Amino acid sequence: MEQPPFAEEIIQWYQKHHRDLPWRHTLDPYQIWLSEVILQQTRVAQGLPYYQKFVEAFPTVYDLAHASEQEVLRLWQGLGYYSRARNLHACAKSIVADHRGEFPKTYHELLKLKGVGAYTAAAIASFAFNETVPVVDGNVYRVLSRVFGVDDDILSTTGQKNFRKLADQLVPAGQANVYNQAIMEFGALQCTPANPACLLCPLSAMCYAYQHGKQKTLPVKIKKGKVKDRYLHYLVVRLGDKVLMKQRPEKGIWAGLYDFYLIETKQPRKWDELNDPVLNEIIQQQPQVEKSELLQHQLSHQRLHVTFYSIVLNGNLVKEPHYSAGKFYSREEIEELPKPILIDNFLRNNHL
Ligand code: ADE
Repeated sequence: MEQPPFAEEIIQWYQKHHRDLPWRHTLDPYQIWLSEVILQQTRVAQGLPYYQKFVEAFPTVYDLAHASEQEVLRLWQGLGYYSRARNLHACAKSIVADHRGEFPKTYHELLKLKGVGAYTAAAIASFAFNETVPVVDGNVYRVLSRVFGVDDDILSTTGQKNFRKLADQLVPAGQANVYNQAIMEFGALQCTPANPACLLCPLSAMCYAYQHGKQKTLPVKIKKGKVKDRYLHYLVVRLGDKVLMKQRPEKGIWAGLYDFYLIETKQPRKWDELNDPVLNEIIQQQPQVEKSELLQHQLSHQRLHVTFYSIVLNGNLVKEPHYSAGKFYSREEIEELPKPILIDNFLRNNHL
């Protein structure tokens, strides 16, 4: 069967230029799935050590399914978007409980798994089983929009439909495994967002963006929604060498991770303006309070303004106060807890 020249060029380019990455040496759908879930979260260089840690700690889907949520979140720490880690865990459990430990073998069956969307299903189906389905991720949008001059907004439903249609037509039958790796690699190394290497590109003769000088305007991505400001005031309450920590709720940022007792306000507030029952209770004991710098922490759609107040409780207290606020943990216990990077950094910088 004749291959479209686009796929042929992309595959030839890949054969010369691809990076040697561990998930490209396996047909194990479990390991492929792990790598793809991690790589949706971060770039290859940063994702690689996470992948290695996960494969080492949980070599099979059974190991992951039987791990505690805390272990999984702790290994995921730093990747952000913690609901993904929880979905990963839930999916492993369901593979064991409902699929006898085996991943489904087709795109459509894979799509039914928890947390597995079109991208991940296509990646597993093509890399592990060589099903002829295209992967469509950020790299693919970029390459297709530039080469074929598609100016649909990649965040719009219509845009996504159109790109998907085009991707379906391009994926070569029987070679989806190598083609999908190739187009993503091409997007990552050659057709990069800011400075694509057009002068050395084998597709430049057929590339709409190159021919029309549109590399900077394609792909089209219309951002909506503005960044929300949030004001977080953390009480870092210490008793001896223990620190008060609390597990965050199931919803919202850092879901399920551990942080300090938090007072959140809608506007900036000074220490004297904070009003909170737990804080009032603590203050009555006349502890020392030390204020840290105001830190800013940027998440994808939120700007966090964070202040830490270090509070040392009177060491003569015979009993650990019992706050709804959480529980006192020792240094060793805290080391094991999954925590947002912001909190981990604070603990390290303050030798806690
Ligand atoms: N990004 C997402 N999936 C990838 C893969 N399999 N290889 C390299 N980069 C990727």
